[in-house]
Amino acid sequence: MPQQQAVWSSVGSEAGAGGTYHAISPIDGSFIAEVSLASDEQYERTVAGAHKTFLEWRKVPAPERGQLIREIAELLRRKKRELGLLITSEVGKIVAEGEGEVQEAIDIADFAVGLSRQLYGRTMHSERRTHRMFEQWHPLGVVGVITAFNFPAAVWAWNAFVAAVCGDTIVWKPSERGLATAVAMTELCGEVAHRWGMTGLFSLISDSDARLGMRLADDPRIALVSATGSVGMGRSVAETVARRLGRTLLELGGNNAVIVLEDADISLAVRSILFGAVGTAGQRCTTTRRLFAERSIIDELQQRLVSDYQQIAIGDPRNANNLMGPLISEQSVRQFEKAVATAQDQGAIVLCGGARIDGMPSPLYVQPTILRVDRPIPLMKEETFAPILYLCPVEDIDEAILFQNDVPQGLSSALFTSSMRHTEQFVSCLGSDCGIANVNLGTSGAEIGGAFGGEKDTGGGRESGSDSWKQYMRRQTNTLNFGSALPLAQGIVFG
Ligand code: UN1
Repeated sequence: MPQQQAVWSSVGSEAGAGGTYHAISPIDGSFIAEVSLASDEQYERTVAGAHKTFLEWRKVPAPERGQLIREIAELLRRKKRELGLLITSEVGKIVAEGEGEVQEAIDIADFAVGLSRQLYGRTMHSERRTHRMFEQWHPLGVVGVITAFNFPAAVWAWNAFVAAVCGDTIVWKPSERGLATAVAMTELCGEVAHRWGMTGLFSLISDSDARLGMRLADDPRIALVSATGSVGMGRSVAETVARRLGRTLLELGGNNAVIVLEDADISLAVRSILFGAVGTAGQRCTTTRRLFAERSIIDELQQRLVSDYQQIAIGDPRNANNLMGPLISEQSVRQFEKAVATAQDQGAIVLCGGARIDGMPSPLYVQPTILRVDRPIPLMKEETFAPILYLCPVEDIDEAILFQNDVPQGLSSALFTSSMRHTEQFVSCLGSDCGIANVNLGTSGAEIGGAFGGEKDTGGGRESGSDSWKQYMRRQTNTLNFGSALPLAQGIVFG
């Protein structure tokens, strides 16, 4: 791939003004792209350009804004294979998942097109005669989007396409490990925006550390900062944005559990756990990390999982036979190794996996790992972004829910049962405390139509479907008096 421009905005860019970044594939260490990094001055002009475009874009009727996103959806459909392959090369997920991620971006674009005709406000009956009350939703401004490496296209798309139909413009600060994909997405979407005379609708600022992300957080021109990534990153973004009383939308770490009860369909549970724990090499925020099973079925579940884990084909994710590729970096492999060692110190037993694999095209391939514990160990409260699954027995559903909720994070959760009572208990206010609670399907692989996000350290934000769009708009309550009297609310008589 030729050298790419990392700043795409109304002001263009001068390659290399902020240095360059070499995108290297975790698959085999091969060179993917050289990406120019944004200087402070480029940041300044990018945000100014996004704001200038906002002043025009907000005038375009929302259904017309939807038409621009429709063109993007069509373009992404045509480029699905190439983009999927780029995602695979850059972050190492298997081809089916790389293309699946592009499909997720297409799905949210389709959703946003429909949404562009449904940005509904309410009307309410005024308590005063000859008065009418209603609320409306107006475009918000420039939205800053900070994304992680593991979904280098879809998570931006959730934010960008919804924000765009809401009338906002978007400045994207991706992880440096997803920069090549970010450049490709911004070039494609920017091309459509440019045709519409809306250059600056989608801009990209790139750096190889947290500097420009924190500038976004501190910048009063950024009306909303939507950030996906680690809890630590989310905390510093939230603190910085809160100091200027700006808005944040946070989707941070998960520590997702599956509960399997004795009346569950074990085959269904095993297949779901495999996809949830091993898919994307354990690097989804929705990855299944903890498994609680009733004592009567835990041995069968363990035996079937260990047997399936040993048959998982690991290797170059471009080869369709492989189900698991590499981790993203050497640091991730070290964290994986450290977690396995610490868990053993805390009493866990390695049932399978636990080590780096030699003789692969790069040193970043690890074995998917199952650790058996008698009770939850302290390390199970932490999210290690790697394919490690803790298996722990429970007495009953009450203990399972207690253990499941006893972690700082609250993103996704799943229960396997055929009992209607247990199902209802799990999804009731006494059940799972997570933003996502599924029954008879796994913790990962959510559809775009629901609101996505979680509670506690996960940050409380909701992105993607349902009514998440409201966060990208400002609400206005209007009261109109069409009479000549001036009745006051609450029956107050003044003077
Ligand atoms: C993430 O890992 O940050 O539910 C997003 C899922 C995907 C999105 C994951 N649709 O697993």
